[in-house]
Amino acid sequence: MAGEKTVETTGLLGWIDKRFPLTTLFKDHMSEYYAPKNFNFWYFFGSLAMLVLVIQIVTGIFLVMNYKPDAKLAFESVEYIMREVPWGWLIRYMHSTGASMFFVVVYLHMLRGLFYGSYRKPRELVWIFGVAIFLCLMGEAFMGYLLPWGQMSYWGAQVIVNLFSAIPFIGPELAIWIRGDYVVSDATLNRFFAFHVIALPLVLIGLVVAHIIALHEVGSNNPDGVEIKQGPKDRNGHPLDGIPFHPYYSVHDIVGVAGFLIVFAAIIFFGPEMGGYFLEYNNFIPADPLKTPPHIAPVWYFTPFYSMLRATTADFIWIMIAGAVIAAAALFLKGNLRGIWRIVWPVVLILVAVLLRVIDAKFWGVVVMGGSVVILFFLPWLDHSPVKSIRYRPTWHKYLYGIFIVNFLVLGYLGTQAPNPTFNLMSQIGTVIYLGFFFLMPVWSRIGTFKQVPDRVTFHAH
Ligand code: HEM
Repeated sequence: MAGEKTVETTGLLGWIDKRFPLTTLFKDHMSEYYAPKNFNFWYFFGSLAMLVLVIQIVTGIFLVMNYKPDAKLAFESVEYIMREVPWGWLIRYMHSTGASMFFVVVYLHMLRGLFYGSYRKPRELVWIFGVAIFLCLMGEAFMGYLLPWGQMSYWGAQVIVNLFSAIPFIGPELAIWIRGDYVVSDATLNRFFAFHVIALPLVLIGLVVAHIIALHEVGSNNPDGVEIKQGPKDRNGHPLDGIPFHPYYSVHDIVGVAGFLIVFAAIIFFGPEMGGYFLEYNNFIPADPLKTPPHIAPVWYFTPFYSMLRATTADFIWIMIAGAVIAAAALFLKGNLRGIWRIVWPVVLILVAVLLRVIDAKFWGVVVMGGSVVILFFLPWLDHSPVKSIRYRPTWHKYLYGIFIVNFLVLGYLGTQAPNPTFNLMSQIGTVIYLGFFFLMPVWSRIGTFKQVPDRVTFHAH
């Protein structure tokens, strides 16, 4: 019967079900959660992100058993884990590789959302919780990186915390408040440890739960961007284009898990440093507050954003203003006068601020870097395309996505390199492309010939 929930009344399960809705929860989220039948490779990454989260928490617990959050002992305690603790090297490499793989998986997961328009109505909150997870993950990785107390841990934290001092008026005090000292020190290590091992993981888990609850409320999107809930239903009221998550996708996801574990193990056993990208060579040298390394670069997953920070020089601010004016002009041509004011007033404010020399380029760098992540929150309202999925968009949209991806990778590469004039120019062009992609989306996303979206999902049995 439609909508009827049968629960156990006998045995252990019956006893539990009378006191806790176990069977109901399992049905709602697993065996009677109807997911579109046309999921593809891209749909592995959500469950893989959950797997990596579990790996990080479990290996983290074991690391904490031997790690010492003390500036005098931290570096050696990590060496002790690597050399003396039975299997300590494996636990540590699983955790350090897991950090990078977390970002690989999450970036691919976000890219899938971009391809199939999964952030659009009614999934705005799923996306917003996702971006909040991404921000939290960045904080978690940044604080974790200080813990081994190597040269890069120390100087990386120094550079990033110093960015806060660029905030007008309150900045310098704020940076001291974050560090708990005038420089990165034992006090900083202790508080980063507290945030890394308990505060942020709790927030992260809470956000992931909210992310899944929001998703299960509205139902999953799919590669066609067709809403299966609005399509035909069987006599029990279940969408004809849907299949129960369990057992179909719970089993299907095992393929993704197996593939992931093969790659994960290969990295751990054959190249845990990944040529200095996963574990930077300078971090095998103990932190020395008196010796700044010649070239300080964050770990690869931060470098696209770090490139945008470095690209924002005093001259570049003018190019950004020109960009904002072009965006305003584009909106004007489109006849959207309300939209134009939304862009014009920040431009006027920026101009006034620059002219009054209240704030310097460093602060704008922080604004650009922060803005390049925060803009993701607004994606559901920036995309005005009549279709969700890339499959039914004009071909040139696909090229645009391609340029966006290549540009992001190039920015990532540039962020790992020591700055030089050519690279700086490239980073500036890359920053314009990145921001232009999002800021001009309300305009470009509607242009072109869109294909007819089918009524039902396209599915080929395999
Ligand atoms: C710890 C990190 C994360 C975990 C564990 C996680 C988990 C999941 C899971 C299990 C799903 C359902 C399966 C799937 O569609 O792949 C999902 C869907 C989704 N996630 Fe995440 N996620 C994470 C981060 C993010 C981030 C950073 C974003 C975006 C900024 C995001 C956006 C989405 C969207 C839009 C969907 C719906 C996709 C669709 O229905 O097509 N997630 N997530």
